[in-house]
Amino acid sequence: MATPTMDRVEEDSAASAHLLTVTFRIRRFNPEVSDEAWWQDFQVDIDPKERVLDGLHKIKWDLDGTLTFRRSCAHGVCGSDAMRINGKNRLACKTLIKDIVSLDKSGSVSKPITIEAIKGMTVLKDLVVDMDPFFQAYRDVMPFLVTKGNEPTRERYQSAEDRARFDDTTKCILCAACTSSCPVFWNDGQYFGPAAIVNAHRFIFDSRDEAGEQRLEILNDRDGVWRCRTTFNCTDACPRGIEVTKAIQEVKRALITRRF
Ligand code: SF4
Ligand code: FES
Repeated sequence: MATPTMDRVEEDSAASAHLLTVTFRIRRFNPEVSDEAWWQDFQVDIDPKERVLDGLHKIKWDLDGTLTFRRSCAHGVCGSDAMRINGKNRLACKTLIKDIVSLDKSGSVSKPITIEAIKGMTVLKDLVVDMDPFFQAYRDVMPFLVTKGNEPTRERYQSAEDRARFDDTTKCILCAACTSSCPVFWNDGQYFGPAAIVNAHRFIFDSRDEAGEQRLEILNDRDGVWRCRTTFNCTDACPRGIEVTKAIQEVKRALITRRF
C-alpha cells in the first residue's frame, strides 16, 4: 500500500503534468527607473484553469516583487484589476488562462499572453493607472438618490416594473473597462465616459429620485453624452455584461424627450 508521502508525490506529479508553461509579456513602467515603458517576459508554470491574476501573483511573489498591479476581492466584485489582456480590456481575476492561451499542435503554448495597463489614463507604475479623473467624472453625475421635502415616515415604495427600469445599470463595479476602451475617451480625456453615464442612468431612471433633470443638464455638456459615437467598445468590454451603449442611448433619448 502506498504511504501518505507517496500519495502526495503522485498527486503533485499528476498536478504538474497539467501545468502549462506560459510567457506573460507585461508592459512595465517605473518613473523612478526610466521615462520609457518597456516589455518584460516572465515564464510561469500554471494550471490552465487558473486565472491571469494567479499568474500575476506567481510573478510578484516568486519572480519579481516590484511588479505593481491593483487587486482586492479576486472575485469580480471590487473592480480594481481591469487591464488589457491580449489587447482586450478584462478583469484579471475573471480571465481563465485556458480561455486566452494559444496552443500549437503539440499542446504547447505558442504565444505569450500580453498584459498592459488600461488605455487613456496616466500610468503611475506598471499596471496601475491614475483613477482620480475617472472617479471625478463619476462624482460629477451625482451618483446618489436625491429627494426633496420632508423625510418620509415609511419606506419609498417602488413597483417591480419601475425597479427593473434601471436594474442593468445597478450592476456597475466601477472597473473603468468601458471608459478606457472608448476611442473618444482616448482622444479627449475630458469626456465623461461610459461609466459615469451608466451611473447617471442608474439614478435618472429611478422613480424615487428627483434630480434627473439636473443630471441630464450635467450630461448635456460638450464633454457629455453627445460625445458618444456608439462604437460599442464599452459594451464589449464590460465584465458585468451591462448594455452600456444602450444605457447611453437611453440617456440621450431622455435629453431629447425629457421623459424618464
Ligand atoms: S459599466 Fe461595466 S465596464 Fe464600465 S465601469 Fe461599470 S462594470 Fe466596469
Ligand atoms: S480583484 Fe476585485 S474585481 Fe478583480
